[in-house]
Amino acid sequence: MSKHLIDQAMQLLRANDRGTYTVPTYGLYPFQWNWDSVLSALGFLHFDEDRAWTEIETLFDNQWEDGMVPHIIFHEHDEGYFPGPDVWRTGRKVPTSGITQPPVAGFAVRRMLERAEQREDATRRARALLPKIHAWHEWFFRCRDPQGTGLVAIIHPWESGRDNSVDWDAAFGRVPTDGVEAFTRRDTSHANPDHRPTDEQYKRYIWLVQKFRSLGWDNSKLHDASPFQLVDPGFNAILTRSCSDLAELADALGEPEIAAQSRNFAEKSLAAMDTLWSEKWGQYLCRDRAIDELVDSPSIGGLLAVFAEIPAARAKVVAKRIAKLGELANFLVPSHDPSVPEYDGMRYWRGPAWLIVNYMIADGLARAGETAIVNRIKADSVKLIEESGFAEYYDPITAEPCGGGQFSWTAAMVIEFLDERVTA
Ligand code: DGY
Repeated sequence: MSKHLIDQAMQLLRANDRGTYTVPTYGLYPFQWNWDSVLSALGFLHFDEDRAWTEIETLFDNQWEDGMVPHIIFHEHDEGYFPGPDVWRTGRKVPTSGITQPPVAGFAVRRMLERAEQREDATRRARALLPKIHAWHEWFFRCRDPQGTGLVAIIHPWESGRDNSVDWDAAFGRVPTDGVEAFTRRDTSHANPDHRPTDEQYKRYIWLVQKFRSLGWDNSKLHDASPFQLVDPGFNAILTRSCSDLAELADALGEPEIAAQSRNFAEKSLAAMDTLWSEKWGQYLCRDRAIDELVDSPSIGGLLAVFAEIPAARAKVVAKRIAKLGELANFLVPSHDPSVPEYDGMRYWRGPAWLIVNYMIADGLARAGETAIVNRIKADSVKLIEESGFAEYYDPITAEPCGGGQFSWTAAMVIEFLDERVTA
């Protein structure tokens, strides 16, 4: 069975391959998305190392001069997606969006180098990527943590990847909708509207884009100018983990300065992460930086924190919490707690299970020695694919496939999960 699933996953990645980058799925997402692309590269590494490295190189070829790596690279014209380059207007030769996404590259490149069989080629390519990834991390701490707290804020829900999470509801309520130019959504013609964010949320997404555009996409201004500044434990855990992985990579490649700076970033960020801990929920929570308050919302962002090297005692409590969620959901890990009224099992990040987050949570909990829950997460992830194919996300109670189909990163994660090296 697993050979059959791996073959299907490889075929899917090949079908979504556009030569130098991979689309997340045909139709709904017709360009290169930042973290989709990097996580898809982990899948490619199993059967085409050269192609895996190219995926990440293409992304970093589009890095901005200030260090930011944009969340979408619009390599080709496609009318089927909104908002396209005409809305973002970032003025790049290859058009890009003007915001970023979870920085998984430091983690992925270290993993790729460790596993690569073509050692010389991999070392050369990792060495070239190293300073670029480091520049992105520096950018985060400079532009998204201007007060030097150790934790960065996202300034648009799309940056988190968890676009319509319940975590953003209250803060998003403060984002106005006046002056939003008329638009037509395209996502709802590719996917069931009940699985997607609402029109009201889309207006606010676009208000923020227009606001940042009016500031010329100048990252020295955007953080302070944004009414939406959310400190997401999941996002920060990815950044922290990427910094510590980059430190290891830099040591291995003989770059002690990058190693030392990356280690400093990771240590400071890990210490600050504890300010997001909630005894009440037994997990981490977001902080709404604009009003300096924790957001009382039990989402997967606070579980994903285990991807960073949080203290073992905290990881144990999170593992217990996930086990509890496993009594409410048939398939771990729901993106929101099914016992609270805001839970919506098919609507994007308000309840569905996502394989990429499962993968990162399993990886972190494996390091913490929480084998039983890791095995459950892995088994549930594979069962979802067997029952419902390679969807974007799944109802964690019924396993119904949701959002887009034939999804690249889902395929990549299946290959990873079925490879015993990953979370064993
Ligand atoms: C979308 O268009 O749904 C994306 O998540 C934004 O990146």
